[in-house]
Amino acid sequence: MTRYSRITGTGSYLPPNRLTNAQLAADLAARGVETSDEWIVERTGISARHFAAPDVTSSDLGLEAAKRAIEAAGLQAADIDLIIVATSTPDMVFPSVACILQHKLGIAGCPAFDMQAVCSGFVYALTVADAMIKSGAASKALVVGAEVFSRILDFSDRTTCVLFGDGAGAVVLEASQTPGILASDLHADGKHVGILCVPGHVSGGQVLGSPLLTMDGKAVFKLAVAVLESAARATLAKAELTEADIDWLIPHQANLRIMHSTAKKLKLPLEKLIVTVDQHGNTSAASIPLALDEAVRSGKVKKGDTVMLEGVGGGFTWGAVLLKY
Ligand code: ACO
Repeated sequence: MTRYSRITGTGSYLPPNRLTNAQLAADLAARGVETSDEWIVERTGISARHFAAPDVTSSDLGLEAAKRAIEAAGLQAADIDLIIVATSTPDMVFPSVACILQHKLGIAGCPAFDMQAVCSGFVYALTVADAMIKSGAASKALVVGAEVFSRILDFSDRTTCVLFGDGAGAVVLEASQTPGILASDLHADGKHVGILCVPGHVSGGQVLGSPLLTMDGKAVFKLAVAVLESAARATLAKAELTEADIDWLIPHQANLRIMHSTAKKLKLPLEKLIVTVDQHGNTSAASIPLALDEAVRSGKVKKGDTVMLEGVGGGFTWGAVLLKY
């Protein structure tokens, strides 16, 4: 009998400190940086984001999301036999957030590792977990996206610091006799490293290079719009489905204009687009599982719905996962 993988539980968590555009603009004005609610909403669709307290890490946010996903799946933490955490803002250089999260969940023994594909991290992690379940290497995987991007923002750069937020989302992916994950399509092109990066690294006890995010927004925008369409089409072709079969499109939540453009290219009505970027900002690898969890808990995404997840981000990386929820 063919072995598939299927999402059986979702969870998410946002740190309590919510900043509206007006509050962020006031904070930035005190630093001599000028921005406005009007500019941010018009160019990005973002109205608010959450920032974690200074002592709260990705594993803390991931833990809350993971507990909720495990509970929704009707499991105990001890049932989990694989942990993958997608993050670009780990608690420390090593060990991985996944190992720290495993310990915080009170379990031990199962493989646990991080996936680094920036904002595409969650679709990469889900694809790897799916492959490990199909191969028999795991049966009950916890796949988490967790980020504290506020730590790597340059608050003197208004072109980037208004875009991002902190948060975590998680799913439990279990072996199943019915599909689940229908198809996925992952890509990377390292020649674009420079358009979106945090170039700093640790050497000789110091951080060499900037530890803050830098981005060529226009270049990222152009690439994102192109690859989100191609990844969606490639994934549909692998599953032998068409755009008309998609019930819900959950793209990486970076910019509402990019998301609208993707929906338009796929000829999907905007009612099928799940949008959380307005309230979360761009939470990088956390954005897709956060949006999925909100869509599930609000009753939009229902059992049996066909859902297209799409990630795009630094690397340059991109990809899509098509699934039956
Ligand atoms: N407030 C007010 N004005 C601003 C701000 C701000 N926060 N930021 C920029 N401006 C100004 C600029 O200085 C510029 O002024 P000028 O014309 O006087 O020079 C003007 O607004 C227009 O700036 P642009 O950069 O042309 O604005 P654009 O419409 O391209 O929007 C944005 C910028 C929002 C960054 C857009 O390019 C974008 O969304 N790019 C994609 C970003 C993205 O998706 N990133 C995440 C990828 S995922 C990951 O891996 C992390």
